[in-house]
Amino acid sequence: THGAEVLVASNRGPVSYQVGEDGALHARRGGGGLVSGLSAIGPDANAVWVCAALGDGDREAVRRAGGAPLPAEDTGGQHVRMLDIDADVHHDAYNGIANSVLWFVHHMLYQTPLEPVFDAGFRRQWASYEAYNRAFAEALAEEAAEGAAVLIQDYHLVLAPRMLRQLRPDLRIGHFSHTPWAPPDYFRLLPDDIAAELLNGILGADRAAFLTQRWADAFTDCCHAVLGADVAAGTRIGVHGLGADADFLRERAHRGDVDEWVTALREEIGEGRRSIVRVDRTELSKNIVRGLLAFRQLLEDRPEWREKVVHVAFAYPSRQDLAVYREYTAEVQRVADEINAHFGTAGWTPVVLHVRDDFARSLAAYRLADVALVNPIRDGMNLVAKEVPVLSEEGCALVLSREAGAYEELGADAIVVNPYDIVGTADALHRALSMPASERTERTKHLAAAATALPPAQWFLDQLHALD
Ligand code: G6P
Repeated sequence: THGAEVLVASNRGPVSYQVGEDGALHARRGGGGLVSGLSAIGPDANAVWVCAALGDGDREAVRRAGGAPLPAEDTGGQHVRMLDIDADVHHDAYNGIANSVLWFVHHMLYQTPLEPVFDAGFRRQWASYEAYNRAFAEALAEEAAEGAAVLIQDYHLVLAPRMLRQLRPDLRIGHFSHTPWAPPDYFRLLPDDIAAELLNGILGADRAAFLTQRWADAFTDCCHAVLGADVAAGTRIGVHGLGADADFLRERAHRGDVDEWVTALREEIGEGRRSIVRVDRTELSKNIVRGLLAFRQLLEDRPEWREKVVHVAFAYPSRQDLAVYREYTAEVQRVADEINAHFGTAGWTPVVLHVRDDFARSLAAYRLADVALVNPIRDGMNLVAKEVPVLSEEGCALVLSREAGAYEELGADAIVVNPYDIVGTADALHRALSMPASERTERTKHLAAAATALPPAQWFLDQLHALD
């Protein structure tokens, strides 16, 4: 036992490995709110991050470390314990239960003809999800010092809080959901016993926290509807609206590689043209296809914008092990090609679609954007909506779905859309493109202030302190 005082548990950890052609392991450190949050607790605290091995490189790294923590030079000094969970068990838990069933329920993505299938195969995957959660609970129980604080993250690890509580009643346990939470009528499409287990899993924590009040309320409503329980009794509910990391973004977005991308993108957009920018994982909940169709509608209804505006869409492949994601990725490409074939001219490509993930290029697009399109069907928060106003150079009009968590903080200065309404979204794009420069600048200032109200480090520390 290492006797850690602070523990974080999440499926994806802060580092991943690839085996090079020479057989050597190459470590790659990830970014994001949790990584910068954990570094905020300082070098004195004895902290451990428990995560899953996600690929062959990770498994090899665990094997070479032989049970010891991963090399500190790979993890930036953080103590990372990577769990080598059986590949089939991980696949069923991660792709089958977490990213298919739970993700689809909370984002309300099951809509005819995409229906849930709760058959015997699903029950077998559920057993893997339990085993996967148990592996985390056992590792956390081993690593934690008496009375330590444990922060368990997301829909992958919903059962772990209760399992850990049973193993180690002395610990202070928090759970944080980075996704929306489904309202009871939708949540109850899950089999009754599983709906109850999911809720009871989180209720094993001392505190359950969410990105917005709306998701917190939905969770409480589900507890009442499914369990009839008074949740206030054992588990406190909290809300922490993760904000953008302004210092990090401003520094990173002004390095040479981003400057080069700014020049390249300016060329791609073309002299004197406006840009509508979006940056997403290629994810059904992000609603990329309807965004393209709204852009198409704009060109249809308002020919004055033809040749004058370019839709820059970065749609980075995600979860390609799942067939519906592969199909969705292909559809995004198909619709973009169709718009270009229909409206494009010798000197103007209406949609510039990039699918190769490149963080520096994304930051360049944030700097340039005249309009940012963030139109998810549902989204826990959506950090793109918060990052663009921070980096925008000339002011950027934000077209924002009312179903994104960020709407609660940014709604007042955005142009708000119903994400299903293609004509309404086309209209919003027109209003965004037509917004006077002074108004754009003014609104961008307000958006940036609201977006940075709770930086990641503070977001993380708030959760930690709330467990005291
Ligand atoms: C969502 C989840 C995150 C996850 C991200 C990427 O935003 O809330 O926890 O990191 O998706 O998903 P992936 O499956 O690639 O880890």
